[in-house]
Amino acid sequence: MKNKIYAVILAAGTGERMGFTTPKQFLKIAGRTIIEHTLEVFDTHPRIDEIFVVINEKDRTYLEELLLKSNFYKITKILNGGKTRQESSYVGINAVREDDAYILLHDSVRPFLSHRVINEVIDNLEKYPAVDVAIPSTDTIIRVDEENLISDVPKRAELRRGQTPQGFWAKTIKKAHELSLEERRLEVTDDCSLILRYNLGGIYVVEGEEKNIKITHPEDLFLADKIFQINTVRIDNGIELENLKDKVLVVFGASKGIGKSILKLARQHGARAFGFSRKNEVAVQNMESVRNALKNVYYSAGRIDFIANTAGVLGSGKLIHRDLAELHEEIEVNYLGSINVVKAGLEYLDKSKGSIALFTSSSYTRGRALYTVYSSTKAAIVNLVQGMAEEIRSMDVRINAINPERTATPMRLENFGVEPPETLLDPDEVAEATLKTMLSSFTGMVVDVRRESRFPGV
Ligand code: CTP
Ligand code: MG
Repeated sequence: MKNKIYAVILAAGTGERMGFTTPKQFLKIAGRTIIEHTLEVFDTHPRIDEIFVVINEKDRTYLEELLLKSNFYKITKILNGGKTRQESSYVGINAVREDDAYILLHDSVRPFLSHRVINEVIDNLEKYPAVDVAIPSTDTIIRVDEENLISDVPKRAELRRGQTPQGFWAKTIKKAHELSLEERRLEVTDDCSLILRYNLGGIYVVEGEEKNIKITHPEDLFLADKIFQINTVRIDNGIELENLKDKVLVVFGASKGIGKSILKLARQHGARAFGFSRKNEVAVQNMESVRNALKNVYYSAGRIDFIANTAGVLGSGKLIHRDLAELHEEIEVNYLGSINVVKAGLEYLDKSKGSIALFTSSSYTRGRALYTVYSSTKAAIVNLVQGMAEEIRSMDVRINAINPERTATPMRLENFGVEPPETLLDPDEVAEATLKTMLSSFTGMVVDVRRESRFPGV
């Protein structure tokens, strides 16, 4: 039988180094408190069964009110923590009843944890009683004595900077804490060091990520804000396309490329999928045609669960030389078209608690010469998705931006000519990631779709 997996989120600290009266986990970034962002990572992870939050008693009312307003499904306990981090993790760990469970301990102030790291921690718990997450140190680390003189310069290649989550077999970490209590040692800042101290088994180290920062000092808030702007996620393979069965899906831009693939794949998995494009007189930049298309689907199918808008045009050349009407068309299709789809689609998705997928491109993070308008419309899509996700949070409708790398579509062929097929994503791969995103509980995210690296170094 599968071991039950708990996430214990440590949030009982007071954030002294941040220096605000509000503990840092309750500060807001990108429209939500830091702890909500962190909880979302675990709540949306298909392998996490339950989440316990460990807090300072005085923050309980505040947290409870926050949780009442959000849509988390897996939080089953809110526990009172202790004066030190170790006391707080002791409380969290001992609230787990099953001895054969896995426990992932995570700092509430690391909101950029990826699902990839969580997966690797869980995978390695099959073999090891403890798993840590760490990144190589780019700076040289030195040891100093009381007079602030260097006493040692350890070899950098052997050093790592620890992050969280740290994963454990429940029985092993409970034992470690018991032994530590007997010794009255309450002063470690992480739990893996207890496993090491009492020699309770191998501690495997998973490669962490630079962006998985611990928000500690005031300047980290600026950095965190920037990371939120450009943060992307990958869609997890644990999501089953079988869940599309009998769902109703609408695709705009469905006559070719990614849109066509989405339609085909959704139908193969039992969805009722309706495709629109200029071929059947639906142009996303024409609001009337979008409204009518959705109305007709709703009348014939009785509901709409998912809407994907893949309609897009790409023109190139120096802006100053390009035809104005053509530039306006690019903005109308790529940007205003998505606004039309969102505005017309929301009333149906509100009824079904559904999801919208829009399309961006890797050029959203920085404007590209010769593709100035295309790349700026794609940046606009990301801001649209981030802003809308916040505006519709209470509706339980999700909205995300799919960010495929170069894909073998007719649009790409037209603009870039024939390219080696192994350098391009198959539209079916993008379609699969899009459908999985719409089935997931992600919202406000940029979902990266990349080729699995088929050649080393590519
Ligand atoms: N933590 C906890 N219980 C404590 C101390 C810390 O649950 N008694 C949690 C914090 O809430 C935080 C994580 O452990 O999510 C990492 O700790 P740290 O960054 O040190 O947070 P604070 O202790 O709040 O900050 P500071 O040390 O600056 O006071
Ligand atoms: Mg602390």
